[in-house]
Amino acid sequence: MITAESYGLPSAQELEAWAQGLFPEWGEAAAGPEPPEGAGYDTPTGYDRPAGYDLPAGYDQSIGHDHLVGYDPSVGHDKSAGYDPSVGYDKPIGYDQPVGYNPPVAHNPSAGYNPSAAGYGHPAGYNPPVAHDPSGRHNDPPAAAYAPVVVPHTAMPPGSGAASGFDVNRVRADFPILSERLSNGKQLIWLDNGATTQKPRQVIERISRYYEHENSNVHRGAHELAARSTDAYEAARETVANFLGAPSKDNIVFVRGTTEGINLVAHSYVLPLLGPGDEIILTMLEHHANIVPWQILAQGTGAVIKVAPVDKTGQIILPEYERLFSPRTKFASVTHVSNALGTVTPICEMVQIAHLHGVRILVDGAQSVAHTPLNVTALDADFFVFSGHKIFAPTGIGAVYGKGDVLEAARPYQAGGNMIKDVTFERTVYNPAPSKFEAGTGNIADAIGLGAALDYVSQIGLPNIGAYEHGLLDYATRELARIPGLRMIGTAAEKASALSFVLDNASVEQVGKHLANHGIAVRAGHHCAQPILRHFGLEATVRPTIAFYNTQEEIDALARAVWELAK
Ligand SMILES: Cc1ncc(COP(=O)(O)O)c(C=O)c1O
Repeated sequence: MITAESYGLPSAQELEAWAQGLFPEWGEAAAGPEPPEGAGYDTPTGYDRPAGYDLPAGYDQSIGHDHLVGYDPSVGHDKSAGYDPSVGYDKPIGYDQPVGYNPPVAHNPSAGYNPSAAGYGHPAGYNPPVAHDPSGRHNDPPAAAYAPVVVPHTAMPPGSGAASGFDVNRVRADFPILSERLSNGKQLIWLDNGATTQKPRQVIERISRYYEHENSNVHRGAHELAARSTDAYEAARETVANFLGAPSKDNIVFVRGTTEGINLVAHSYVLPLLGPGDEIILTMLEHHANIVPWQILAQGTGAVIKVAPVDKTGQIILPEYERLFSPRTKFASVTHVSNALGTVTPICEMVQIAHLHGVRILVDGAQSVAHTPLNVTALDADFFVFSGHKIFAPTGIGAVYGKGDVLEAARPYQAGGNMIKDVTFERTVYNPAPSKFEAGTGNIADAIGLGAALDYVSQIGLPNIGAYEHGLLDYATRELARIPGLRMIGTAAEKASALSFVLDNASVEQVGKHLANHGIAVRAGHHCAQPILRHFGLEATVRPTIAFYNTQEEIDALARAVWELAK
């Protein structure tokens, strides 16, 4: 029998302990704000994990999946063939780790989470400073306006970045817009990377080159420019496949972005699976783009949406997530990183759990793709979707990764030219994936720009980027936590990029406006993630989001500006 222990699910207490372990000096503050009474899920103390997980009697995982041509749930998920949860769980076999990348130990609960471990964020030699005690911040506001905590150079990744070889100033020089002065004379500080990222010269120039030398429609025409543009477009698809660790470029479908990608999967693959009473699993952390498409499907079919809860830190409660699976579960769709809180979800475990129940799963990578190294093959996700504009590429382009069998089983999403082998008025023979899902003329130039952006990121190395950003996020978290009346929303042990907060004595709109007056661009609003904010009793937060071109000085400017309002 497969037990919960056999695949290493952490208990609620372990999750809590990780959060405490990450910021031991935070004490109570690390637990985050209390959600208001009755606002969503309250972590039960002493969660009683089932002693020995057992599939429901008579559960036939093939039910509900067999009407998708080509989908054989027994392939790869056959429990009778001996499910080995250790394979692909901690360090999946075949995972091609980038040189120097040390996967976060947080995904291996049995090994004990060690936040200082090299590889999850901290560059070698990084020593988290303990220079302040934010737990006393409400009683003892500093008399002086704002004084950044002075940390030893080795404690911070910015500047020379000697420890990791990452040079933020060199990187910044690639992004022309970062030198922009605003109409009020202020220097732009771009901390709205969760909304969209800025574009390096390499991407801008690549798109110009396309229009100057290659512009043509693709996959048609016998002339030279058709060949140039087709080659460049398909090379970009190959780059996306390599970047994600996909087996082939045929696993990559170009779409407008994450929103279109999720809608494509919902309508092409999931809709035919659904009947009244069938279930789709989401989490409380989802962006509206990963809620509304499923609601539309549910409304049309009588299917039901079930939502995995989060704990007080904004992290998924894995045992509760698993409890949601039933013989009626037909699909799961979960985020890798929450755009509203920055929580990095335990995505390996979430994929494994879905598969243990014979359920296919989509991972929304919109907020993770630019921040955390990833290999979709090792992760074993059935679908992974992301937007180019969140990773230094243009808007209007993104990609869906799908496993070969799910793409084959899925129906076309839109229809027209470019996706067919043969058409008569009686019937049409479609091209195989990915062409089957790319009706009409695609966003050729921006797909090529996406390839250039991923090449650019790969050159710097996502492990370097992740390490640098993690150090900066830690620093920003500590600096903001010192501000009187500032409440950080989302304090999970694993976070990426985002800092969501509210101030006691200034509205979210006031803070956003005040920061804008200082040249600091952040998002102030509901971040298209109303359910998770309402879970914390809020309608909006201020949300700075970090990218690898941000600096310690910019974080200091942010903190200084917020202090002005907090006084
Ligand atoms: C987690 C998440 N999912 C989906 C989306 C939608 O992305 P897009 O607007 O690029 O389609 C976003 C955008 O912010 C997001 O943060």
